[in-house]
Amino acid sequence: MTPFNLNIALETLKKGLPIGFPTETVYGLAANALDDKAVAHIYTLKKRPKFNPLIAHVASIEKAEQYVIFTNHARLLAKAFWPGPLTLVLEQKKDSGISTLATAGLSTLAVRQPAHPMALELLQHLDFPLVAPSANPSESISPTSAKDVQEAFTDLYVLDGGPCTVGLESTILDLTTSTPTLLRPGAITIEQLENVLDTTIMPYKGDKILAPGQMKRHYAPSLPLRLNADSVKPEEALLSFGKHEMKICREELNLSPTGNLKEAAANLFRYLRQLDNPSKNAGIAVAPIPQEGLGLAINDRLHRAAEPSKS
Ligand code: TXA
Ligand code: MG
Repeated sequence: MTPFNLNIALETLKKGLPIGFPTETVYGLAANALDDKAVAHIYTLKKRPKFNPLIAHVASIEKAEQYVIFTNHARLLAKAFWPGPLTLVLEQKKDSGISTLATAGLSTLAVRQPAHPMALELLQHLDFPLVAPSANPSESISPTSAKDVQEAFTDLYVLDGGPCTVGLESTILDLTTSTPTLLRPGAITIEQLENVLDTTIMPYKGDKILAPGQMKRHYAPSLPLRLNADSVKPEEALLSFGKHEMKICREELNLSPTGNLKEAAANLFRYLRQLDNPSKNAGIAVAPIPQEGLGLAINDRLHRAAEPSKS
């Protein structure tokens, strides 16, 4: 990041205004987590229901400890996976100063230290954490490039950190329950978490247990998605994975021709955006993705995107 870009970003945030910034997962719409008005800007921009709490992004474990109570589990996991795509839900410290709008009034706070060098550099220069939901209007596809963000929010200052390497939102683990509970699958898998903790984790319950306020339909393109397709209809585009023998009439994008789940995750939202073109296609057929490792997170996002729109 040039000193010029850094300065604009810092000044904008210090004025209580939001900016767009890169993380390794997806781009975030960031604002001062201690400032109600700044947080309110985010909800207005995203048109997001106010009961949905936000993740506070911090520069280090030490910074996180100013706001939340670190348990042994939290320390082990943060040491193993921070900076990186893991969000921990922990009890807030008394008088943490975090905006109640950001936590939707909960006593807990979701925290993570992002790994993208630009995000880290920005956070190191601030004396407050940044709350940052994905930088997309509520219910649309999460952004994995600065261009995605700028198209949705034309007046927003956006730091361009290139394409996101992970491409899926962070894994969220709730450590305030008696058994640690997975609230959102992501790039850090349940097996990786269990290896570090040496204890079992309550697996993700699909739509039964959601992170508070998390809507079923979330990561949505405008065209209908048909999941686990083994053939393609003439009017459909195909989002494929690995080798296949399906006949294609229109467009095809392959998430990973070699069947690599990491590559597929990084391409998912970008390819959904590309195929979501009603002037060319009437729907998107999606090939089956193996339900293992990162495949759980990919299938979770696909199921949400396939929910029919209420509007
Ligand atoms: O990868 C990510 O996590 C991205 C980047 C920008 O860091 N951010 C992101 O934020 O995905 P967002 O706002 O789109 O998703 C935050 C999720 C929501 O599902 C919310 O319900 C959950 O985190 N959450 C936040 N605070 C919580 C809390 N105290 N308890 C339980 N869930 C919480
Ligand atoms: Mg989001």
